[in-house]
Amino acid sequence: MACGELRADHVGTEVVLAGWVANRRDHGVVRFVDLRDRYGLIQLVADEDAPAAGMEGLSGLHPEDVIQVHGVVRMRVEGQRNPERATGDVEVLVQRVEKLSSAVRLPFEIADHIDVPEEMRMQFRYLDLRRPALQQRMALRTRANQAIRQTLVDAGFWEIETPMLTRSTPEGARDYLVPSRVRPGSWYALPQSPQIFKQLCMVGGVDKYFQIARCMRDEDLRADRQPEFTQLDMEMSFVDEEDVYALVEQVMAAVYQEVLGTELALPLPRMPYAEAVARFASDKPDLRNPLEVVDLAGCAEALEFVVFNKVLADGGWVRGLRIPDGGRLSRKQINVIEAAAKDAGAGGAAWCKVTAEGPTGPLSRFLKVGAEETPVDCPVGIGNLSVAGADFLRCLQARPGDLVVTIADHPRRAMVALDAVRRKAGELMDLVQGPDQLLWITEFPLFEEGEEGEFHPAHHPFTCPVLEDVPALEGGQKAGIRSRAYDLVLNGTELGSGSVRIHQRALQETIFKAIGLAADVAEERFAFLLEAFRYGAPPHAGFAIGLDRLYALLFGAESIRDVIAFPKTATGSCPLTGAPSVVDESQLRELGIRQDSANPNEA
Ligand code: AMO
Repeated sequence: MACGELRADHVGTEVVLAGWVANRRDHGVVRFVDLRDRYGLIQLVADEDAPAAGMEGLSGLHPEDVIQVHGVVRMRVEGQRNPERATGDVEVLVQRVEKLSSAVRLPFEIADHIDVPEEMRMQFRYLDLRRPALQQRMALRTRANQAIRQTLVDAGFWEIETPMLTRSTPEGARDYLVPSRVRPGSWYALPQSPQIFKQLCMVGGVDKYFQIARCMRDEDLRADRQPEFTQLDMEMSFVDEEDVYALVEQVMAAVYQEVLGTELALPLPRMPYAEAVARFASDKPDLRNPLEVVDLAGCAEALEFVVFNKVLADGGWVRGLRIPDGGRLSRKQINVIEAAAKDAGAGGAAWCKVTAEGPTGPLSRFLKVGAEETPVDCPVGIGNLSVAGADFLRCLQARPGDLVVTIADHPRRAMVALDAVRRKAGELMDLVQGPDQLLWITEFPLFEEGEEGEFHPAHHPFTCPVLEDVPALEGGQKAGIRSRAYDLVLNGTELGSGSVRIHQRALQETIFKAIGLAADVAEERFAFLLEAFRYGAPPHAGFAIGLDRLYALLFGAESIRDVIAFPKTATGSCPLTGAPSVVDESQLRELGIRQDSANPNEA
């Protein structure tokens, strides 16, 4: 029997329980101890009905001592029942107690709500794991993983483990490297994803593959990133986008059902990448936020605002957001919005409040009527506007009471800043409400333009281009080339990503060339894949969902660290084990590695 399982039905039963001492109350003639295990808390009691050994056993215990107890379940007396606890109707009259291990004073209390720095919780993660919040999340994670496995196995998928010690994989982050002892000078790379192996499984006739896979990426960490994380990785042969969407939706529905007990409305909505960028300045828009971006290129020029004109002349964006009723935001709150734009890399954000008497704020002087002009009659009742100013606000459909925030910058930077402004304004105006919004983003471009106008592959290099665009690609074009890649987005977070793959060697070589992967480098790194494609490769497509991100959102956790049993800090370290750590000189010698800098052991 477990502590948390005891109910009125068990009254009279002799039980043997084991667990941790949670709370103690010692009234001399009556002693109480709350005993905790994974299943809950039970009240132990020793009073005049208990043998001396029971009374004795409950004395001198410390919080978190581990004990085993023999006793009998009995009803609590009326008035002393605890309806808030599942075991609250009963208690166990203790006959004898064996202390299995003692606990020293804990660095923090094992309770639902504690105010302890996260780093300390991570250092003593085994104590943090005893707390109800993490226990519930581990239980939910188990159930959700189980629902995923069940759904995929029922659909004919095989669960296949792929190597951890492998060659560099192509997800675009830095690799974690592992030196080979037997081949000094040679290194394994830890997988950034099982991408190549799952494609090789398809060449191997596996047809339907999945894996709950660990991935390792040495990249700059953000709130929703960990250096090692878990993906639900999937791949199928002889399929196209529609089959992948249907499968992923089925998996998501199973997870929603298991975790939240809700039916996911299917099919999920879809939005082409271009539309998402135009309306929300993001390829992962949070559709719960109703604010939309307006392209002001057509009406900004006439304002004679040099910043706008220069950006437009350089091919940049002038775009803005109208925040209905945003006029009520304080100067301090607007500063927060501006800071969000700057943190995102933009030079700043030009804004104005719209009132019946005319616009106010930094942008207003470009909108207001000049001394010699007559103000324009504005149909929505905004006073004091020049012709160009009225036109500008009309573009934005602004009304008195609104706040208008504009960004003028290089397209890439402007997009990131507009997204940040939209998120921040949505938050400050309390606009982000309503049910979860899952969304497919489709028709991604094959290349993304960087800040200097350079092009990077938007996904890994095995993503199939839209076939009609291949001749243009071969002709050297990059802008506007479409790919057959898609993402799944939940409430503004990219949950997963996938594509139809290239399965022909010649096309794969074209892509390597187009993305600037020199033929010899491509040959050296991916020769085995190109070789595999020579022996009959089926058309295939797949997807990977970031499970830590999915679970953090579904379980209502603040960070992905809160759904990972042993997470790492923002600097990639593990306060519990002290990893990464220095190693013995002898270990390095054995691996044939000489340390360049002074020996950190001696530092
Ligand atoms: P991608 O690199 O987009 O695609 O990764 C898929 C999903 O994995 C999650 N993710 C992360 N989660 C936590 N920490 C990280 N550092 C991290 N990096 C990524 C995200 C992301 O959407 N092989 C391809 C998939 C495919 O094409 O089938 C891939 O790995 O939720």
